[in-house]
Amino acid sequence: METRAGDPGAFAQFDLNRVDSPAFVVDAAKLRANLAVLADVRDRAGIKVLAALKAFSMWKVAPIVGEYLDGVCTSGLWEAKLAAEHYSGEIATYCAAYKAQDMAEILQLSDHVIFNSPGQHARFAGEIASAQAAGDQFDIGLRINPLHAEGEVPRYDPCAPHSRLGFPVDQLLPEHLEGVSGLHFHTLCEQDFEPLKRTWEALEARIAPYFGQLKWLNFGGGHHITRADYQRDDLVAFLREVKARTGCEIYLEPGEAVALDAGILVGTVLDTHWNGMQLGITDISATCHMPDVIEAPYRPAMLGELPIDEYEDGGEGGAPVRLGGPSCLAGDVIGDYRLPNGAEPGTRFAFLDQAHYSMVKTTTFNGVPLPSIWLWDSESDRLEKVKGFTYEDFRDRLS
Ligand SMILES: Cc1ncc(COP(=O)(O)O)c(C=O)c1O
Repeated sequence: METRAGDPGAFAQFDLNRVDSPAFVVDAAKLRANLAVLADVRDRAGIKVLAALKAFSMWKVAPIVGEYLDGVCTSGLWEAKLAAEHYSGEIATYCAAYKAQDMAEILQLSDHVIFNSPGQHARFAGEIASAQAAGDQFDIGLRINPLHAEGEVPRYDPCAPHSRLGFPVDQLLPEHLEGVSGLHFHTLCEQDFEPLKRTWEALEARIAPYFGQLKWLNFGGGHHITRADYQRDDLVAFLREVKARTGCEIYLEPGEAVALDAGILVGTVLDTHWNGMQLGITDISATCHMPDVIEAPYRPAMLGELPIDEYEDGGEGGAPVRLGGPSCLAGDVIGDYRLPNGAEPGTRFAFLDQAHYSMVKTTTFNGVPLPSIWLWDSESDRLEKVKGFTYEDFRDRLS
């Protein structure tokens, strides 16, 4: 999978020795810039935009998110609790399947509770009635599967054959929408406007009979709205038209677009050796710190890296080095890079665009330490260590 982010922005001027290693550094100014773009789309289109906590939930910056957006979307009880404790605005919760023991609290915390199937909705009718009787105010939603695939990679395509995500729209019957105020679909991943438009064109006729009874439509995430070349004017025109035609409030819930290019992961080369090519072992692990590198897979861009093909053409600078983590996993390989400052042990480097889907996914497999978390503001140059992790954090998760 080819990522279309990786713009260094202000990080091009950041001295990597100002933080410990490994460390995530998030630029508050870039975050604000992304949020301003999302708020502008929201205002021009007359819709609501929620930030997807699954992508980026560094709650230290929750007040910044709250300044711009209408709230957050969450993936279950723990994110909904985090949202209620730290974020402002609406909370929309969707989970592929809820547990009975979580339901009462989810209904209490959330403004929208979105089910993945009419079956689960029906099974929780008792909990829903009790919550309503207790005065909890929430809308029920249903996630549908538009059965229109736009994904490049099946793993990231909720419309791939036999997908469990969303109720297949060809099975939707009027009785499935009793007590349902909104429909939700999420089918995109790092995509442009056209795939959203095509999805809507494939879906609209199937759900049009219900427009009169629905309050809202939620078009999920996966919209790369804050990428410089995203077609924002087309999106705004489309959203205005859909809102007018359906009479529904429209929601988008981007995650990646909120934090796009707003963070780096700083690491250090620990050792090098040769096995048919130059190898570098670093304190950043793909499997522990950037699992999408292996899962997607993709190659994260490096701050200031030298192009590999220029070396092949006899260009200046060092040979490519295959960087990998300190873990035991043979496949804990990040990729081949020509580091801007060479690859001697002790050299600092940074991977770009690591604020989303990395910080939220870290693990301590092999006892590999978690990266600390820093907040930088490239406008004021203020730098603050938000969080460091200790041996005790690792130990206390295990027994
Ligand atoms: C239901 C739902 N909403 C929103 C998102 C956020 O998507 P993205 O971060 O790609 O914008 C996801 C991502 O998987 C999702 O599953």
